[in-house]
Amino acid sequence: FPLYAQQGYDDPREATGRIVCANCHLAQKAVEIETPQSVLPNTVFAAKVKIPYDTQSEQILGNGNKGPLNMGAVLILPDGFKLAPKNLIPEELKEKTKGTYIQPYSTDKDNILVVGPIPGNKNKEIIFPILSPDPSTNKKVHFLKYPIYVGGNRGRGQLYPTGDKSNNNTITSLFNGIVKNINQSTQGDYNIEVLDRDGHISNQSIPRGLNLIISEGNDLTFNQAMTSDPNIGGFGQSETEIVLQSPERIKSMIVFFFAVTLAQILFVLKKKQWEKVQAADINF
Ligand code: HEM
Repeated sequence: FPLYAQQGYDDPREATGRIVCANCHLAQKAVEIETPQSVLPNTVFAAKVKIPYDTQSEQILGNGNKGPLNMGAVLILPDGFKLAPKNLIPEELKEKTKGTYIQPYSTDKDNILVVGPIPGNKNKEIIFPILSPDPSTNKKVHFLKYPIYVGGNRGRGQLYPTGDKSNNNTITSLFNGIVKNINQSTQGDYNIEVLDRDGHISNQSIPRGLNLIISEGNDLTFNQAMTSDPNIGGFGQSETEIVLQSPERIKSMIVFFFAVTLAQILFVLKKKQWEKVQAADINF
């Protein structure tokens, strides 16, 4: 959960560029981000994060039952960019972001936004309404190109903050030996009896809901997989760039282009005039 990241890490992006969700969500899956290529200061725009997955597929839940996957994301914006306040969000964007509860990562990092877990919607996407900063009032930001980082996840993680493994993991053998007995309790948990070479029996339990890939009589070696991998989710990260564009620069650029075009037209007119003079000279 994003909350686990908020509790465990001051900054969700490590020095290596890795986003910390990956520490517990071990499988890698794709995410995409779409933002405008440039924005004007003090403007609301949308960043769209796509976390594709198959809605039909079901994952193992904490209680061993099967259930749908949920998704969540963290968006790391440049300093000064933040979640757009409700009253500034245009109606159309408000409609699209209805029901997604986006929060700042922490009180001193309001340029980092988190959301989730939320159920996957039709397009498996999360839309963040963002307000760009204004360099005339915020001296820390400048009209420059900035990076935006995103991490997106679907499905349950493999590790809890305590370091314990979740049941969304392959269970591997703790012992060497032969599978003597497989007993299933009424709750559905398995107990595996392993007979080692010295005739000693060890027990290992496997929580319910996992698919066994061993059977009685099999040879087991330490660390061998005893179940198939139940995890169908995964985490991915991506990045993009956005230009904080000065309206003055755009205006001057338009004026400059206009001036160049006008000058070219005037040159052509001058040339035409001069040709007329030349033609007149010859006729005399
Ligand atoms: C579950 C997202 C960081 C461990 C989830 C779920 C989401 C999510 C959406 C629900 C999945 C579902 O129900 O299908 C994220 C994001 C993170 C993040 C976006 C980073 C910002 C972490 C971290 C840890 C962690 C750092 C470990 C310390 C887990 C575990 C579950 C889980 C163990 C399953 C909980 C359960 O159902 O028992 N996460 N997570 N996550 N996450 Fe994360």
